[in-house]
Amino acid sequence: MVAHEMHYQAYIIGGYVRDRFLLRDGKDFDIVVVGDGILYAQNLAKALNQQKNITVFKTYGTAQIKYDDIEIEVVGARKESYSPESRNPLVEAGTLAEDQNRRDFTINTLALSLNKMDFGLLLDPFDGVTDLLNKQIRTPLNPDITFSDDPLRMMRAIRFATQLQFQMVPETFSGIVRNADRIKIITKERIADELNKIILSPKPSIGFKLLDEAGLLPLIFPEFCNLKGVEVIEGKGHKDNFYHTLEVLDNISEYTNDLWLRWAAILHDIAKPATKRFETNDGWTFHGHEFKGAKMVKRIFTNMKLPLNEKMRYVEKLVLLHLRPIALTKENITDSAIRRLIFDAGEVLDDLMTLVRADITSKNENKKRRYLENYLLVDEKIKEVEAKDHIRNWQPPISGEEIMKAFNLLPSKEVGIIKTVIREAILDGVIPSTYDAAYQLMIEEGQKLGLSINATN
Ligand code: CTP
Repeated sequence: MVAHEMHYQAYIIGGYVRDRFLLRDGKDFDIVVVGDGILYAQNLAKALNQQKNITVFKTYGTAQIKYDDIEIEVVGARKESYSPESRNPLVEAGTLAEDQNRRDFTINTLALSLNKMDFGLLLDPFDGVTDLLNKQIRTPLNPDITFSDDPLRMMRAIRFATQLQFQMVPETFSGIVRNADRIKIITKERIADELNKIILSPKPSIGFKLLDEAGLLPLIFPEFCNLKGVEVIEGKGHKDNFYHTLEVLDNISEYTNDLWLRWAAILHDIAKPATKRFETNDGWTFHGHEFKGAKMVKRIFTNMKLPLNEKMRYVEKLVLLHLRPIALTKENITDSAIRRLIFDAGEVLDDLMTLVRADITSKNENKKRRYLENYLLVDEKIKEVEAKDHIRNWQPPISGEEIMKAFNLLPSKEVGIIKTVIREAILDGVIPSTYDAAYQLMIEEGQKLGLSINATN
C-alpha cells in the first residue's frame, strides 16, 4: 500500500525469502525499494504506527524499523554494491534487477513483490530457487566481481555452506581462493562475527576445513593453522592436532550451543605446537600446553577483536583445566584430589566435563574405551564427593572479618595465611567444613603465628 501510494515498487529480498524456502525461522525482513528508501521507510513506519521505532542511516541510505520483535531493514535499490568498507557508500539508485545483480549469492537474490499489481510474485533472475533445491552456493556474477565488492562475502559463502550444509559450486570456491588475500581489508569485528556464526553451526568443522582449503584460515587465525601436521621421529608420530581439534569441536557442538564453550574446544590444544618435544623414552610430549594455551587466549582474543571480558576468562579457565579430570585417573583418585578439582573449577565444572568428554577422540578403539571409562569414573567420583562435601558453592566457614576480630587484627598477611590454612585443611579432608572445626584450627594457627586471642571475644 505504502509503495503504491508513493508510486514506488517494494520487494522483500534476501535472507527472509531464502529462509522461507528452507522452512527456517526468520524474523527480520529486508525490503528493497525502487525509489527513496528512507522516505519509504518513514511512510511505512507511519502506516505501522511505529514512528518512534525508526532509525535512519543517512550515509548508507538505509533505515531500520523495529516492530515488536521484528526488524525491518529498508534500502533503496542500487546499481553498485555497498559494503561498509567502501569509501563511497552512497551509490547511484538502480532498478530491482541491478540491485539483485550486486548481491552476494543467488540464494540471497530472491525477491517477493509487495506491490498491488503482482503481490507475492517471486523475482528470481539467477535461478536461486534451483540453487536452493540443489543446496548450492553460487555468486550471481563472476565471483571476482562479487567478492571484490565486499571481500567479507568469501567468509559469508563458507558460513552459509556450513550453516545450511550446502556445497559451493567450483567457480565460487576458486573465486575465494583467488581473492583470499583481499580479506585483509575487512575489519576484524566483521570477520569475527562470521567466524562465530561458523562456530555456532551444527558441524563447524565443515567451515574450518573450507576456510583452510580456501587459504583464508592462515590470514584470519594463524594459530589454528599451526596445529596442522604430523611429525615422525624414530617411527613415532603424534596426532594431527588440527583434525583432532575439529573433531573435539564437532563433538562438543552436539552437546552445547554455547559459543564460548565451543571456543574453549577450539583453543584447548592451541599451545601444542609451541610445547611439542620428542623425548627418547616417552615419544612426543606437550608438557605444559594447558598453561601456555591459557596464556595464549588473551592474545588471540585481542587479535581477533573478541571480547576481553568474563567470556575470555571462562575460556582461559577451561583451557587451563582441560587435562585435570583425566590426569586424576593416573593415580588412585582420592577424595581430596576431587575436592580440589571441584573447588578450582567452581562454576565451570559441568562445562569442563563436557569439554573433557568431547576431547576423547582416539582412532584406537581400545584407547578410546579406556579414556571413556576413566572419564566416567571421575564423573561418578565428582558426584559422590559433591553430594558429601558440597565443595561446589563452598564458602569458608570462617570469614576474614571473624579472623581479624578474634585476634584484634587489621587487614594483614596473617589473615590471609590463616584463611589459606583453613581452606587447604578442608580440601585435604583434614578437618570437616564446619564452623567449630575451622575455629579450632584458626586458634592453633594464630598461636603458631604468635597472635594472641582478643580478650573481649
Ligand atoms: N548482502 C550482500 N552482501 C553482504 C551482506 C548482505 O549482498 N556482504 C545481501 C544479501 O542479499 C543478504 C541481505 O543483504 O541476503 C541481508 O544480509 P544479512 O542480513 O547480513 O544476511 P541474511 O542473508 O539475512 O542472513 P543472516 O541473517 O543469516 O545473516
